[in-house]
Amino acid sequence: MARQIVSVVAGEKLSSGTPYESVNPARPAETVATVLLAGADDFAGACRAAAAAQREWARVPAPVRGRVIASVGRLVEANTEALARLVTEEIGKPYAEALGEVREIVDTCDFFLGEGRRLYGQTVPSEMPDKSLFTFRVPVGVAAVVTAGNFPVAVPSWYLVPALLCGNAVVWKPAEYAAASAHALYRLFAAAGLPDGVLNIVFADGGQTYEGLDRALGEGTVQKVGFTGSSAVGRAVGELCGRHLQSPCLELGGKNPMVVMPDADLDLAAEGALFSGFGTAGQRCTSLGTVIVHEDVHDEFLRRFTAAVRDAKIGDPNGDVLYGPLLDHKFAERYEEYLGWIQPHHTVLPGPVGRMEGEGLYYHPVVVDGVRPDDRLFLEETFGPIVGVTTFSTLDEAIDLANRPGYGLSSSIYTTDPKAVFRFREGVSAGMVSVNNSTSGAEAHLPFGGNGKSGNGSRQSGMWVLDQFTRWQAMNWDYSGRLQKAQMDVAEITPDLGFRI
Ligand code: UN1
Repeated sequence: MARQIVSVVAGEKLSSGTPYESVNPARPAETVATVLLAGADDFAGACRAAAAAQREWARVPAPVRGRVIASVGRLVEANTEALARLVTEEIGKPYAEALGEVREIVDTCDFFLGEGRRLYGQTVPSEMPDKSLFTFRVPVGVAAVVTAGNFPVAVPSWYLVPALLCGNAVVWKPAEYAAASAHALYRLFAAAGLPDGVLNIVFADGGQTYEGLDRALGEGTVQKVGFTGSSAVGRAVGELCGRHLQSPCLELGGKNPMVVMPDADLDLAAEGALFSGFGTAGQRCTSLGTVIVHEDVHDEFLRRFTAAVRDAKIGDPNGDVLYGPLLDHKFAERYEEYLGWIQPHHTVLPGPVGRMEGEGLYYHPVVVDGVRPDDRLFLEETFGPIVGVTTFSTLDEAIDLANRPGYGLSSSIYTTDPKAVFRFREGVSAGMVSVNNSTSGAEAHLPFGGNGKSGNGSRQSGMWVLDQFTRWQAMNWDYSGRLQKAQMDVAEITPDLGFRI
C-alpha cells in the first residue's frame, strides 16, 4: 500500500489538505506516496511555529547543536540503503547515484558537526586604548526552504544542516513529486532529537507556497528564504523577498558549457560529456548544456562522444544504467517542448529522439550538433537528456560562447595547457569551473552557486554558506571609564611627509 504523507508543524501532523500522488516514474501507474498538500495559511502558520521555537534553539550551545547534526549524519548513514532505494523509486535516479546523493548528506553533516565548535567570531583591535572590538555570528531567525526534487535529499541538506547548526528554525517545502524521500529525511532529522517546531515540513503546491511565504514575510516570521529551482520561479521569489528587504539564497538553473581545446584528451572529454550531459538524465542543475569544441577536433570528438552515447545503457534505475526515467510527468512534458526546439539546421545524433516504448518516462539520449548562438537550444536550459554541440576557433571565442546564455552555475574545460585553464577561469561567468572534469559532481565542501540567471551570487556549502544563515553583529566595549569618541579622540603620530632619502 502506498505511504500516506502529511505536513508536520511543531511536531503535529496536519491531517487535512488536497491529495496529491507521487508516482514512480519508471512505472507511473505505481503510487509511491499519497500526500496531503497544505494551503497558504498552513505555510504561514508553520513559519509562526518556527519563529516561536527558534529562540530556545538559538540558546542551545553551538557545540551541542553540532552534536545533533552529528546524530543526523549517523542516522542518515545507518539508513543509507533504505533512503537511496526510496529516492530511486520516487524520482528514478539510478541507485548508484542515489547512494552518492545520500553520501552527500553525510558529508555535509560531517563538515558542519565540527562547525558547531567553531562558528568563529573575531576580536578586532580598536583605534583607542582600553576598548575592545568583537564580531559575533548571529542566527538569522527562521529560514523558509523551498527545494526541487532532482536531488530530493542532498540539496535540501545543504540548507537544513547549516541553517539548524547556526541556530535557526526551518520551514521546509520540498517538491511534491519527491515527497516520500523528503518525508523520510525529515524523520531522520526528527529522530536526532530536534525540539518540536525547530524543523517543520510543509507539502504544498507552488501557488500556495508563494502566498504563504508572502504572508509570513509580511508577518516578520521568516528572515531567510532558500530556493532551489528554475530561474523563472527564482526571479519571482527574489522579487518577493526584495519587497521585504531580504536577500534570498537562490540556486537556479544552468546552461553549463564544456570547452574542448584542440590539445584535450578526447576520450576523457567524451567520457566527461557523457556523464555530465546524461547522468541523472540531464536533470541536474549542473548538467552539461553545450559542448563548445575546437573546430580541428570537432569531428573526432563527436565520433567518440556519440559512440559513447550509443553504447550507454538506459533503463531500470535499480540496474547498472547511465540514467533512468525523467523525474515526473511534468518534467517529461516540458522536456518534449524542448525537443521541439530542434531545427532543420541541426544534426541529431545518435538516432531516435523522444520517448522510448513502454510505460516508464524513459527518453532517448540526444546529441544536437551544429547549434548556433541564437538557437533556443543554445541559450536556454533544457532539463533532460539532450546536449548541444558547437565549434570555436580561438579561446576568446569559446569564452564568449560559454557566457552567452547568461547563466553562470558550472562550466568545464578540457585541455593540457595551463594558460588556457587560467584564461578560461578568469573569463567564464560561472561560479564553478572544472578542469578536465565534468560540469557536475561538485564536492560538498566547496562553495556552490551561480551568477546571472543561475542565482543572485549566494553560495551554499562549506564555510561560505554560514553567511547565508548568520548575520555579523559588531560589538565594541569601552572599559576606559570615559567617553572616547571614534575618529575624534584617536591618538595621532605625526610623520615628516616631506622626508626623502
Ligand atoms: C543540483 O542539481 O541542484 O554537482 C545540484 C552536482 C551535485 C549537485 C547538483 N553534487 O552535480
